Amino acid sequence: MAASGPADDTGPPSGASPGADGTLRDQLRAAFAGALSGAAADGVFPVATAADMPALLDQVRETADPKFGDFSGTMAMGLAKAAGRKPRDVAVDVAKRLAATPGFDTTFAPPGDPVGPGFINVRVRDEALATAVSAAFVDDRLGVPRVARPETIVIDFSSPNVAKPMHVGHIRSTVIGDALTRILRFRGHRVITDNHLGDWGTQFGMILWGWKHCRDDAAFAADPTAELGRLYRSVRKIADAKPEDLAADPAAAALAARHPGAAEEVLQETARLHAGDEENRRLWQSFMPACLADIERLYRRLDVSFDHWLGESFFQPFLADVVTDLERRGLARESRGAVGVFVDGDDKPPFLVRKADGAFLYATTDLATIRWRLEHWHPDRILYVVDHRQGQHFEQLFKTAHRWGIPGLDRVALVHVAFGTVLGEDGKPFKTRSGDTVGLESLLDEGVERAAAVVAADEGLSDGERRLVAETIGIGAIKYADLCQNRTTDYVFSYDKMLELKGNTAAYMQYAVARVEGVFEKGGIDRMALRRSAPAIVPADPKERALALAILRFGDVLADVEADYRPNLLTTWLYDLAGRYSAFYDSLPILKCPEPERTSRLALADLTGRVLRKGLELLGIGTVRRM
Ligand code: ARG
Repeated sequence: MAASGPADDTGPPSGASPGADGTLRDQLRAAFAGALSGAAADGVFPVATAADMPALLDQVRETADPKFGDFSGTMAMGLAKAAGRKPRDVAVDVAKRLAATPGFDTTFAPPGDPVGPGFINVRVRDEALATAVSAAFVDDRLGVPRVARPETIVIDFSSPNVAKPMHVGHIRSTVIGDALTRILRFRGHRVITDNHLGDWGTQFGMILWGWKHCRDDAAFAADPTAELGRLYRSVRKIADAKPEDLAADPAAAALAARHPGAAEEVLQETARLHAGDEENRRLWQSFMPACLADIERLYRRLDVSFDHWLGESFFQPFLADVVTDLERRGLARESRGAVGVFVDGDDKPPFLVRKADGAFLYATTDLATIRWRLEHWHPDRILYVVDHRQGQHFEQLFKTAHRWGIPGLDRVALVHVAFGTVLGEDGKPFKTRSGDTVGLESLLDEGVERAAAVVAADEGLSDGERRLVAETIGIGAIKYADLCQNRTTDYVFSYDKMLELKGNTAAYMQYAVARVEGVFEKGGIDRMALRRSAPAIVPADPKERALALAILRFGDVLADVEADYRPNLLTTWLYDLAGRYSAFYDSLPILKCPEPERTSRLALADLTGRVLRKGLELLGIGTVRRM
C-alpha cells in the first residue's frame, strides 16, 4: 500500500476548500500508511496487506495527555509481537520513517525516551496547527472534509405503530435516526430517510373490533386518536384476557363476558383488512388522517422530517408475491398451516411470512420493503434504527433476504442500529405512576415545563420568547440525554439530570454557545467583518493549542460516529470542546489583550462558537441567544 502524498505544510490559501487532504488525523494516518508499508517491505515485521491497513491506521488516535504529543500510534506492540521483536525497536523504526512528514514532529520528547515502551508519539507542529485552524476559520464546512466516496444510505427510523399512542421508546429511534441522518448528510452521503410506519398491523384488528363493538362517537368526533387509543387499550385487555387487567377495568370486563370469542374475532378483523374487505378498508382509511396528524405534530416539535413515509400498508400489494416467490424457490414451506423460512435450521423457529389464517406478517412486509428499496433507490447501505429487542427479527430478515437473492443485495450493507431501553429512576422500564407507558407528547410537555422553571425570570425576555426558549431547552435536554448515551445500553430517564446546567447536558452546551457569543456582544465586535478579514489564528498558549486541536477533530469525530453509528461520540467531544473553551476563556484575556493576539483569540472564540452550534445542529438540538 503506497502512502498518499504527505500533507502540504503550507495549507490551502484562505477561501479554498480545506480538507482535500483530510483532517490532521487523516493526514497523519496517510503518513503512517506509508511508513508501515515501507517497514513491512523492509522486513521489519510481516507484510501488512492492504486489507490489514485500516485496522492498523485505526490505532492512530489522539493522546489523552499532551505530554505524549497530540497523536499516538499504538500498532507497534501488535506488529512487534508478530515479528518476535521488541515493540520499542519497531516503534523507533516507524517513527524514523515518519520523521520527514511535513507538519508533524516525532522527535519532540519526553526527554530521552521518544517512544516509551512502544508508542509512536507525534506532535503537530505549531505552524501546521496554525495553518489548519486558520483554514477551518474561513471554511464554511469548518474544516470538516467530505467523504471521498459518497454512498446512498437509506435510514429507516422512528417508524411508530400508528393508532397506538407513541411512547417514550419511540423517542430513541426518532432522535438517534435523525442525528445519524444529519451527520451522514453533512459528511456528504446521499441519505434517504423513510418512516416505515406500522400502519397495517394487528393493532388495527383491535381497533376495528372495538369500533364495531364499543366505540364512543362523540369522543371520536372530539379527539379521534384519543378514542382510537382507548379502543386499542381496552380491546387489547379483552383479547389478552388477563384477569388482573380485566378486574381493573369493569367496562372491558363486561364486554369480554359478552364476547367470549373476542380474541379470535380480533384476529379475523386484521385478516379481513389484509384480504381487502371493503368495510374494514374504508374504516382504516378514515382512521389514518387523524393518526398521521398526531404524529406529524410531534415531529414538528422535534424538528424531524422524512423524505418518505412508506408505511407497511404501502407494501401490501407485494406481499402475496413475496410468499409465492419464496415458496417457488424452495426457501419457504408450510409449517402447521403457516408458511415460514427455516433460516436457522429445521429445528429452530422459522421466519414466518404467512399465518395459518392467511394474514401476512411484519417479516413479509420487511422482505418486500428491502426488494422495493433496492429496485427504486439502489442503496449502498440500509440502516434500521430499531429497539434491540428486535435483534432476532433483523438477523432472520437479513439472512432470508440474502438467500432470497434479491438482485444486487450482495453489495448492500444491511445494518440493525440497535438501542437499549429507556428506564425510569427505579431502574425498570419507564412508566407513569399508574403503570402505563409514558406518552411522548406528555413527556415533551413536562420537559418543556420544567425547562421553563429553569429559564425562569430572565429580565429581558417577553412571555413569547420565554416559551420559545423553554421549548428549545426542554426538547434539547430530552434529545441530548438520549444521544449522549452509548446507544446499546439502557439508560435512566431523569428530568432533573437532563436539565442540569453543569455536566454533559444540552443546557450546559447551549449555555456554552451563549457564553462564547457573549464575548462578541460585550466587545461590540462584528463577527462577519472578523470572518471576512480572514486573520491568522496562532495558537501559542497551551490552552489555545488544546482548543484548536479539539476543533480540528470535528471531522474525525463525525467519521467515528459513522463507523459505529454512535452519536454519543459527538456529544462527548462537544462536551470536551466546551471544557477546553472554558479553560481558554478563564485563563487568557481576549478583549483586553494586545494585537495580534486579540484578533487571533477572537477568531478562535468565533470558530469555537460556530463549531459548537454546528455540532448541536447535527444532533438536532437548537440553540438560543440567551438563557
Ligand atoms: N413499527 C415498528 C415498531 O414500532 C418498527 C419498524 C422498524 N422498521 C422496520 N423496517 N421493521 O416496533
